[in-house]
Amino acid sequence: MGNEELWVQSVLEMPKRRDILAIVLIVLPWTLLITVWHQSTIAPLLAVHKDDGGDSRRDLAAGLDSKEYCLSDRDIVEVVRTEYVYTRPPPWSDTLPTIHVITPTYSRPVQKAELTRLANTLLHVPNLHWILVEDSQRRTPLITRLLRDTGLNYTHLNVETPRNYKLRGDMRDPRIPRGTMQRNLALRWLRETFNKNNSQPGIVYFADDDNTYSLELFEEMRSTRKVSVWPVAFVGGLRYESPKVNAAGKVYGWKTVFDPHRPFAIDMAGFAVNLRLILQRSQAYFKLRGVKGGYQESSLLRELVTLNDLEPKAANCTKILVWHTRTEKPVLVNEGKKGFTDPNVEI
Ligand SMILES: *[C@@H]1O[C@H](CO)[C@@H](O)[C@H](O)[C@H]1NC(C)=O
Ligand SMILES: *[C@@H]1O[C@H](CO)[C@@H](O)[C@H](O)[C@H]1NC(C)=O
Ligand SMILES: *[C@@H]1O[C@H](CO)[C@@H](O)[C@H](O)[C@H]1NC(C)=O
Repeated sequence: MGNEELWVQSVLEMPKRRDILAIVLIVLPWTLLITVWHQSTIAPLLAVHKDDGGDSRRDLAAGLDSKEYCLSDRDIVEVVRTEYVYTRPPPWSDTLPTIHVITPTYSRPVQKAELTRLANTLLHVPNLHWILVEDSQRRTPLITRLLRDTGLNYTHLNVETPRNYKLRGDMRDPRIPRGTMQRNLALRWLRETFNKNNSQPGIVYFADDDNTYSLELFEEMRSTRKVSVWPVAFVGGLRYESPKVNAAGKVYGWKTVFDPHRPFAIDMAGFAVNLRLILQRSQAYFKLRGVKGGYQESSLLRELVTLNDLEPKAANCTKILVWHTRTEKPVLVNEGKKGFTDPNVEI
């Protein structure tokens, strides 16, 4: 009986000793972990503070934070973001040719979304000048604000395409294709702004606001001597259209289904022109009337070059660097025309 009692007692006591051991074993690793973690949160900031030599912006950021040495993750995120904001667009270079990107645009529910997306792309490209031309009677506050807030180098122009230009009894469609007058105004602006004898080296590219552009495309076009060309995806009812390039690296025709016998069977997004050529051929414009669909590009290019002059880019036209992504059927119901209409909310 007595033996049994003793055994029961020791069995009851044992868990108590085990409990203490267990608590120690649980608490000790956690203490170590928290200590190590706490040190490593401070360490990167100390490193930033140490290796910044002379950069005043960084000094400021580090200085602001050093008043509190107990730093949380939030502060570190802010340090990183401060630098990010101040480094766009890339610094201007005196040696790189400037790319003049001409974008015609018109008012529609998705306009601000498309231009924001394009601006975000352009912000990555060094020495870029954006010429945005509105199809409107006057420059709108929406676009004025958007351009100012991007931080890009830009020129804001406008010209309204006249509506209902129908001549009486004329059965042909005399409408001026969308964007044509706007692109022509930008060409005129370039010719009035830059001197053809000694202008800065430059490239001219027509970038509509509804396409998607690889950053690589801009570096490909920057070396254009006369006119450079490359494939464009999702155009002409095909996966892509492309110039045909022979073994000698020369363009000899066009991979396209729609009227391949056009002089330049190429999309607006598929070529770039050297600024000097634009300035020298001062009569070269897009034709306003009497141009069949798909001939708009040819109407300008035939004034500038011959097929033999074309410079294939994008690995001899084997890489896709630009995509037509026109929102023909916007995901938004009725292109966002329905729904809440708060005049203070600009979409
Ligand atoms: C805009 O272009 C001018 C040269 O034309 C250049 O000096 C300036 O730094 C550029 N600004 C930006 C934000 O790129
Ligand atoms: C360019 O140079 C030519 C001849 O050197 C001169 O006749 C012409 O006026 C110049 N053009 C401009 C815009 O300075
Ligand atoms: C393009 O093709 C030409 C001729 O075959 C060749 O010399 C050149 O290296 C090619 N360029 C590229 C970027 O592949």
